[in-house]
Amino acid sequence: MFRRLPETASDSAEVTLWVDGEPQQVGATLSVAAALLQQRGWAEYRLHHDGTPRAPLCMMGVCHDCLITIDGEPNRQGCLVIVKDGMRIETQMPAAQPTPGASTG
Ligand code: FES
Repeated sequence: MFRRLPETASDSAEVTLWVDGEPQQVGATLSVAAALLQQRGWAEYRLHHDGTPRAPLCMMGVCHDCLITIDGEPNRQGCLVIVKDGMRIETQMPAAQPTPGASTG
C-alpha cells in the first residue's frame, strides 16, 4: 500500500528510536508512523477500543489510526511527528485510554 519515494541526499541521515525498548535505526526525515511502517512493514501497533488491530492509514492526520506513545505521552498522532534521535516510542497494544476530545476512529 505504501511505497517510499526514491531517497535524496538528506534522507541518508539516520537517528536511533527506542521502540518498545529496542533500538531502531531509521531515516531522520521520517514521521514516527512512516519509520515504524518502514521497520515493521504493514504492521498494526495499537488496538481499537473494540479490540481490532489498527495501523497508520491516511498518513496526514485524519484517521487517528496511528496513535502511539511518544516520549511518555500517549495517543500522539505518529504520522504528524518527525522522528528525533533518542525518541522513545511505545506501541499501544493493548490500547491506552483515548485522549479526551480525540476521535477514537
Ligand atoms: S495515519 Fe491517519 S491520522 Fe495518522
